[in-house]
Amino acid sequence: MRVLPFPVLLVLLVLAAPLRAAPPVAAPMAPPARLGLCAACHGSNGIATLPGVPNLAGQRLDYLRQALADYRSGRRDVAPMRAATGPLSTRELDQLAAWYASRPPCAPAAKR
Ligand code: HEC
Repeated sequence: MRVLPFPVLLVLLVLAAPLRAAPPVAAPMAPPARLGLCAACHGSNGIATLPGVPNLAGQRLDYLRQALADYRSGRRDVAPMRAATGPLSTRELDQLAAWYASRPPCAPAAKR
């Protein structure tokens, strides 16, 4: 078997370099503009800061979207959540749901 000449190998290596350097995951998501409305109770990373408030980090995206739609419409009738979601558009709620779904969930040992 004939070995490839050295310059050819070098060119192949250089061409392959960007493939290996490519990041394996998508660029990190930027926090949504309206996150401040939610962070006081749910934390900016979805680990609740108050007793009686659920953690949102790592919950399913479809579930979070549905929950937010239900609070806004009043189908799920909880005053603080209705007030928080009322002024937001569906697009803004979707961004918040995507943000919280993508946060790493709370470790069991860190439960409060
Ligand atoms: C004043 C505190 C407060 C604020 C502000 C607040 N929430 Fe909540 N949130 C709660 C409480 C309390 C519940 C539990 C309600 C229930 O019993 O259904 C809840 C429930 C939820 C749930 C359902 C979680 C589940 O597991 O079913 C989602 C999703 C959610 N909030 C998202 C948000 C988002 C997004 C915002 C910002 C737009 C927000 N919340 C603002 C207190 C708050």
